[in-house]
Amino acid sequence: MRAVQITSLDGPDAVEVQEVPDPTPGDGQVLIRVHAAGVAFPEVLQTRGLYQLKPELPFVPGAEVAGEVVSAPDGSGLAAGDRVTALPLIGGFAELAVADVDSVFALPDSVSYEVGSALPFNYLTAYFALIERGRLAKGESVLVHGAAGGVGTAAIQVAKAFGAGRVVAVTSTPEKGAVALDAGADEFLLADGFLDSVKASGKVDVVVDPVGGDRFTDSLRSLNEDGRLLVIGFTAGQIPEVKVNRLLLNNISVVGVGWGAYALGRPGHVRREWEAVADHVASGALTPPIGATFTLEETAEALKTIDERRATGKVLLLP
Ligand SMILES: NC(=O)c1ccc[n+]([C@@H]2O[C@H](COP(=O)([O-])OP(=O)(O)OC[C@H]3O[C@@H](n4cnc5c(N)ncnc54)[C@H](OP(=O)(O)O)[C@@H]3O)[C@@H](O)[C@H]2O)c1
Repeated sequence: MRAVQITSLDGPDAVEVQEVPDPTPGDGQVLIRVHAAGVAFPEVLQTRGLYQLKPELPFVPGAEVAGEVVSAPDGSGLAAGDRVTALPLIGGFAELAVADVDSVFALPDSVSYEVGSALPFNYLTAYFALIERGRLAKGESVLVHGAAGGVGTAAIQVAKAFGAGRVVAVTSTPEKGAVALDAGADEFLLADGFLDSVKASGKVDVVVDPVGGDRFTDSLRSLNEDGRLLVIGFTAGQIPEVKVNRLLLNNISVVGVGWGAYALGRPGHVRREWEAVADHVASGALTPPIGATFTLEETAEALKTIDERRATGKVLLLP
């Protein structure tokens, strides 16, 4: 089969498409013909050896896919030809991928492979962040940084689907703000000076932060009492530090959100998360905006779209 390989840790331009042997599913694994694969920030980090998951070189990246089942274990409830979305974690940027049966989910007929491949990673992260870690209550207000990105658009839609009140998007440009509004945000603020706008329009109960960097302290200042700041990632590059007197004085919390290791390390957890969002997927309430699509041969360009901050919505590979 054709697959994208990371053969050296020299960044997005160093990925190569190669003929490699078809993957062989192990016990409890499903073989999937990939129709679409989601590209995410961690794969950009993997091309430089900077992500926590560091497989031995060479390896095929690709954490999430959608496609057709080729084979599935007896008793799994899956059969050849079923439409599914899945989290292979690695190996997804290829014509065929394998995933544990616990990480393979039936895709409703109303949901395309493109949309399906953009769902599991970001939407289960957003669900884990807002509902499991952030204890979002009905009517609470939410501010989302990086709101035109993959995690950001997912967080907007999960917040709305699970009963949030006002959802405020923060983006670096008005164009990205429009993407966030399309995804379901009630308003957008430009990242530069966002705190002044928050003070004018009202503080929030929850901040979703996949960006980090120098906006962190202003995010804390944006919270109501009892507010929670959900730490999801550091696309700005810099890992912020917090003076904890700010937490004490305002009765606010900084909450770590590390979805992968937590959810995937607990048998059945990811499936329960999928079941919690499945009705909203079927209804269309959770429909990721698709940004740009690329072939396997164009993977470097797909990765650079994310790396160079040009991505809006989800970036996909269509093998
Ligand atoms: N903790 C977890 O469990 C978990 C799970 C999934 C992903 N993540 C992490 O979440 C983060 C976001 O992932 P994503 O897939 O949403 O990425 P994405 O689609 O590329 O969006 C990230 C956003 O970050 C903002 N940004 C600010 N400074 C940036 C910079 N210097 N370079 C690039 N983007 C910058 C951009 O928005 P503006 O231009 O509007 O500022 C961009 O839209 C990543 O760090 C990823 O590793 C964490």
